[in-house]
Amino acid sequence: PPPIIRSVAELRALTATWHRAGERIGLVPTMGALHAGHLSLVAAAKAAADRVVVTIFVNPRQFNDPEDYARYPRTEASDAEKLAPFGVDAVYVPAPDQVYPDGFATTVSVAGVTEGLCGASRPGHFDGVATVVAKLFLQSGADIAFFGEKDYQQLQLVKRLARDLDIPIEVAGHPTVREADGLALSSRNAQLSTSARQMAPALYAALVGAAGRIRAGDAVPGVLDDTARRITAAGYQRVEYLELRSAQGLHPMIRLDQPARLLVAAWLDGVRLIDNIAVGP
Ligand code: PAJ
Repeated sequence: PPPIIRSVAELRALTATWHRAGERIGLVPTMGALHAGHLSLVAAAKAAADRVVVTIFVNPRQFNDPEDYARYPRTEASDAEKLAPFGVDAVYVPAPDQVYPDGFATTVSVAGVTEGLCGASRPGHFDGVATVVAKLFLQSGADIAFFGEKDYQQLQLVKRLARDLDIPIEVAGHPTVREADGLALSSRNAQLSTSARQMAPALYAALVGAAGRIRAGDAVPGVLDDTARRITAAGYQRVEYLELRSAQGLHPMIRLDQPARLLVAAWLDGVRLIDNIAVGP
């Protein structure tokens, strides 16, 4: 397995050596509990860069609920094993004080793209993400970082953050990895009961159907209403949001006049699942 690094000083020493040798460094930030979605980001990073650092840090600042934070799976040893075949150069697992030293008092907050969608129901969540991602970018000095489209609002936030703060890093998005039945891979899928797991793919199927209708010219509000009903009829308890937004900047849309994204959060079996899909004009 790749070497595990626990301090920012060690990380900086390593990346400085690589940069002196003219090597390009790729970064894959994660919270661990790695699945094939994470590993596809690692493979993409390996293809795009000479050196790859995967970070594993369960970031307390992005959890709204302390219980959710406590419950989050911590599987460092098996994560390191999963990374071994990918030729990852280092796994950065910072001790908490390497990210949030005593007296830490700075919050990075990105407006605009974080408004609504997941930002509405998870107060403080995106500030926590922006703060930790800014720190991981600055600590590593990486040249390119990979994020999944699965968390599309997060990907837009990170792009905005790097641009606004002049952090010299390229932010690359990567397509959502799905199960054979269409369900987007997520560590939360393991919390679904057997019967809920069978209903779960209805979420992606509904998005695909809606995207087809919108592309064919059906009125957006009607399609969204029908689709939300279809999701609950399939067994989901509640649709938290279902919205068409611009693919860049996430502006609300009611007509398909630019590249768009259809984004959804819905509750199944007490588990909150999110997904999204491209809708071309
Ligand atoms: P985490 O949930 O561990 O996800 C790490 C990365 O994997 C994110 O970029 C996420 O979008 C991507 N990912 C998750 N499921 C995926 C799938 N099915 N297909 C493709 N990519 C997928 O997102 C976070 O961690 C944190 O917020 C983090 C950015 C690390 C900051 O703490």
